Order: sequence, then C-alpha cells, then structure tokens
Amino acid sequence: MPADPEAILDHPLLPFSKNPADAWTIRNACEGTQIFGGTGSGKTSGSGRAIALSFLKNGFGGLVLTAKNEEWPLWERYCQQAGRPLSDLIVLDPKSGFQFNFLDYEFNRPDDETDEGKHLTHNIVSLFLATLSTGEAAVSNADPFWNDALRELLTHAIDLAAIGSGDVHLPDLAAIIRSAPQSRAEIQSPTWQKKSRCFELLRAAAARAPALKKENPGRFNDLEETVAYWLSDFPNLSEKTRSIIVSSFTGKAAGLLRSPLRRMFCEKVTPATDRVRPTETHRGKIIVVNLPVKEYGEVGRFAQMIYKTVWQRATERRRLAGDWRPVFLWADESQYFVTAEDMLFQQTARSKMAATVYLTQNLPNYHAALGTRHGNAATDSLLGNLQTKIFHANGDPATNEWAERVFARKLQVRPSFSTGIGGHSQPASNASTNVHQAYEPTVPAIAFTKLQKGGVPPYVVQGIVFSGGRVWKGSDFGEDATAVMVSFPQQPEPAKCSRPN
Ligand SMILES: Nc1ncnc2c1ncn2[C@@H]1O[C@H](COP(=O)(O)OP(=O)(O)OP(=O)(O)O)[C@@H](O)[C@H]1O
Ligand SMILES: [Mg+2]
Repeated sequence: MPADPEAILDHPLLPFSKNPADAWTIRNACEGTQIFGGTGSGKTSGSGRAIALSFLKNGFGGLVLTAKNEEWPLWERYCQQAGRPLSDLIVLDPKSGFQFNFLDYEFNRPDDETDEGKHLTHNIVSLFLATLSTGEAAVSNADPFWNDALRELLTHAIDLAAIGSGDVHLPDLAAIIRSAPQSRAEIQSPTWQKKSRCFELLRAAAARAPALKKENPGRFNDLEETVAYWLSDFPNLSEKTRSIIVSSFTGKAAGLLRSPLRRMFCEKVTPATDRVRPTETHRGKIIVVNLPVKEYGEVGRFAQMIYKTVWQRATERRRLAGDWRPVFLWADESQYFVTAEDMLFQQTARSKMAATVYLTQNLPNYHAALGTRHGNAATDSLLGNLQTKIFHANGDPATNEWAERVFARKLQVRPSFSTGIGGHSQPASNASTNVHQAYEPTVPAIAFTKLQKGGVPPYVVQGIVFSGGRVWKGSDFGEDATAVMVSFPQQPEPAKCSRPN
C-alpha cells in the first residue's frame, strides 16, 4: 500500500454504471455504506457480495460480525473467490481457541505507541455504556437517571479493582458489584466482611492510600470518592433502584463469565491464543467473530458489540504507517450491532481508511435498536453518516418513503394536454400540447416494491444506489440523477467449507 492514503482514495472498487465516472471508490467506501432490503431481496447475495469481494480483492483487512451461522463459511468462500489465502481469515469462536481479553486490552492498550489513553477508567465505563445502551432490555436507553446511575456504579467498580488489585478483570468487577454492602449495617457485619470481594479490595485500596496520596493526588481523590460510594451511596440506594442498576450490568456480564465465552474474553491470553487483536485487521487479516446471534442469543450480541467497539477505538487510534491496509467493518443484520459510537466512528473513518458496511431489512429495525426517545434522532444521525445507501426490493412503507426522500425530487418536464377556458373539453382540433414542469420524486416509493430480488433466472439483484453529494453520469433515472440502478449478478456458491461450522 502507498504511504499516502490520499493517493488511493479515488481507486475504483466497483462500477455502478457503464460510465467510468460512476465508479464506487475507496473514498466512497470509507464514508460508510448502508444496505436496505426486505427478507430475500438480495442484500447478502447481491450488493453485499459484490462489495465484500471488492474489499478482499483490494487487500483490505476487516472485522465481520455475525448474526447467522452461514456468515463464517460465506467469508471463507469470498476469500477463495477473491484469491486471498485462507491464512488471512481468522475466526474467533470457542472452537478456534483464540482469546481476546477485552478489558485487559482496553485498559492497558498494549498496541499503542504512546501511554496516552492507557489505564483510564473512563474508557472502560464508556465501553460498557455504549454496549449496554442498545438492544433488548437496554436500561440506559430509557432514562438519563439510569444511565448516570449505571455510569457511577461502573466507575467505582473499575476504580476499586484498579486501585485495590492493580488490574481490571470482568470476574472481579462482577464480584465487587455482587458482594457490595446492601445496607449501612451490613458494613459492620464480620460475615459480610469475610466473604465480600468488595470489602477485600476496599481494604487493599486503603492500604495503598498513603502512598497514592503522595504519588498521585488525583488518583487518591478518586479513591476517596470510590470508598464513599461503596460504603455510603450504594447501600443508601433504594432496594429497587439498586437491583435494577446491578442487574442491568450483571445480567449481561453473566453470559461472558460462563463457559465457553469466559475463556475467550475474560481469561489470561497466552502467546499461542493471542491471534485476534484488532490490530491484526490493520495488517490485512479478516477476523470473523463467530458467535452468531441466532445461535448464541443476547450474549453473542453483547460480546460482538464489545469487540466491535474496542476494534473501532483501536482503528481510530491507528497510524497509517508501515504495512497498513484499508479495513472494513461488516455487519449483516446490523440492527443487532449498531451503537451510538458508530456515529463518532464514522466521523474519523475516512482519515483512518475504515469502511463500514451495514445490512438490514428496514428502518424500523434501527428505531427498535437505537430507541426513539429523541424521535428517531439516533437512527437519522447514523444513516446521515453512512453516505452510500443501497436500496433493494422492500415492502416496508417507512423505508420506501424515507428512500424516496433520500433521493429527493427533481424537475420533471412532461407534455400536458390543455383544454379550453372553463375546463370544457375542446374539440380535438382545438386542443394544444403544452410543456408542464413539476418537481417529482427521482425515485417514487413504489419503485422499491418492484425491484428484482434474484433467486430465479437471470439471477440478478437490482439495487438503487445513493451516494451523498454525488450525481451519476450514466444513470437510467436521467442526467445528473441522485439515483443509479445497479444490477448485481448472483453467483452459485458451490465450494465446500474447510471447517464445519
Ligand atoms: N448464490 C445464489 N444464487 C442464486 N440465488 C440465490 C443465491 N443466494 C441467494 N439466492 C436467492 O436469492 C434471493 C435473495 O437472497 P439473499 O440471501 O441475498 O437475500 P437477503 O436480502 O440477504 O435476505 P435476508 O434478509 O433473509 O438475509 C433469495 O431468494 C435466495 O434464496
Ligand atoms: Mg441476508
């Protein structure tokens, strides 16, 4: 890859019409892509496949999140078809044995060249909040009170672990929270003191306090706050409040603390299993997090969201030096994986040469995942930041009407038949043909219900493409239209997977 990323931004990845000026480029890819289409409309086998192959053929590394069991074998076939060695494809799942201790990685940031951003409680807190605030039973989506209460709980659990034990591990965070005092009286109880991890670490932290006061007064203040939280604020919360905040964290964390995910994400990584750091993708590896939501459910989703967020952060921090590659973030059924951090990531994605591709059926999927507390602001912001939008056949009116607005209106010139004054029809010989001009949708909503979905000869999937700020030169929708109709051929997928799923 050239040292200068600017030099490859205009490299074409896919032709979107016969006119070479309409090529979809690395620049477009790094500005983000959203693919919409109803079930069976050809998202995966049409535009998804074409884009995935273009990335692989151009040497991209990437992260693939998985909703369905077919995702991993599909990427193996893509690699074969794109001429990529299978050694470029790394699967993170219980069977592969690879490990990624995300808290250790995020707290210690071993791949960073500077110490800036290391050992920050805030980084871990925001990692959890980003992943806990979307999807099913998202407590912090509902009310800022819960968000603040959860933030406080996590901040003090992490500070207690970091100061008391010198490190931050998920089993320890869960143990602190579960063994915290439930009342002021319990604090005095010798039985509680004996079995409480929270108390054990409070004691260890207290022993470190005098040294901390001298070496790092700021951190000493953090410790004072943390002690006050666990010995006073937390036991004074109402029982109901306490149990809601605690369970919003421990409920999700519990899945990671059980086999087989515990070994993958919470235990010490060995040199042999240390193959799935986010930085591997920066050098051209494709990491598939093979914990399909359809099979692993909520815990699979939670683990993948955490990995994704850590990956996004590592990608934001990367320097494009040495053997760097453009990278992609791939999420089919993206409604399971979207977070508020995606909007922020998109803002730096182009300068870090990172191409996000999200595929989902319709807009309501995102409204459900991101919440509608501020209208649909979160969804609007996400979609505003994914510049390329591809629409396949869809029966969802909300998505089709929204798509119509995305492509905007254009001035259409049509002949109109004029009748006489007063509206009385004139004899045909007196009628005149005028030119009538009006702003009409570039692509009316109904057009999205009629697109070809593939699955039958000629095995072609139609998609209508929008790319923010672009007009297409060779579009069937007219000169300088915001829309271009693209036909994506489907390919038979005969190859057998090298590794049973
Ligand atoms: N390689 C292929 N060759 C021919 N037909 C295919 C191929 N792959 C999928 N199909 C068919 O093409 C249609 C579109 O399938 P595809 O899986 O791409 O849709 P999708 O939009 O991704 O659906 P979903 O929302 O369920 O994931 C379906 O009828 C499917 O059975
Ligand atoms: Mg699909």
